Amino acid sequence: MIIAVDGPAASGKGTIARALARHYELPHLDTGLLYRAVGLSVLEAGGDPASPEQALEAARHLSSAFDDPGLKSEAAGKAASLVSVHPEVRAALLDRQRHFAGRPGGAVLDGRDIGTVIAPHADAKLFVTASAEVRAARRHGELVRMGLDVSPDAVMHDIRSRDERDSSRSAAPLRMAEDAVLLDTSDLSIDAAIDAALTLIQTHGRNAAND
Ligand code: C5P
Repeated sequence: MIIAVDGPAASGKGTIARALARHYELPHLDTGLLYRAVGLSVLEAGGDPASPEQALEAARHLSSAFDDPGLKSEAAGKAASLVSVHPEVRAALLDRQRHFAGRPGGAVLDGRDIGTVIAPHADAKLFVTASAEVRAARRHGELVRMGLDVSPDAVMHDIRSRDERDSSRSAAPLRMAEDAVLLDTSDLSIDAAIDAALTLIQTHGRNAAND
C-alpha cells in the first residue's frame, strides 16, 4: 500500500506519516529532507539557493546522509523552499522518490506533491493542514525547545512566506490532489490527529488493512 501525505509546513504531516508507517509497518520517506539537503548544501558552499544552476549541481551530488541536525533548521527550511522552485531540481529528485514509492509492499511518503506528482496512483492520499496561527505556534514551540531565541512574529512571517512560495510556484505547487482527503489538525492533539488519519485511510483508502 502506498500512502501519500501532503500539506504545508508544521501541519503535522510528518508526525502523522511516521505514525502511519509504524502502524502499517511500511518504510517512510520525508521528502522535505531531500530539498532541505539540497538547500543546505548550497548554503554550506557559500552559494545562492535561488540560482537554478547551483541548486541543480547540489541536487545531482546529493549525499544519502539525512541525519544532519542542521537539516531541521529554519535556514535549511527556507533554502529548501527556494531550491524547490526550480523544475530541474524537482526533476533531479524525482526518480529517487518514485523508486521509494515503488518498494515492494509499499511505502509512506510525505511532502508537498506526493499525491499529485510523485505517487498519483497512491492507495491513500491525505492532505494535512492547520491554520497558519496554529502552525506558527507549533513551529515556535519546537524552535524554543531546541534552545533557539526566535520571536513568534518572525516564525509567523516565515510560515506565511513559505506557504506563499510553495503554493504559487509553477512546478508542482502545493495543492490538494482531487482524490485526497482533507485532515485539519488545528484543534487536534497529536494522538487525535493520528487516530483521525487512520480512520480516514480505513474509510477512503484502497487496500487498507482494517486494523
Ligand atoms: O516539509 P519541509 O518543511 O521539510 O519541506 C521544506 C521545503 O521543501 C518546503 O517548504 C517545500 O518548499 C519543499 N518541498 C517540496 N516538495 C516536497 C517536499 C518539500 O517542494 N515534496
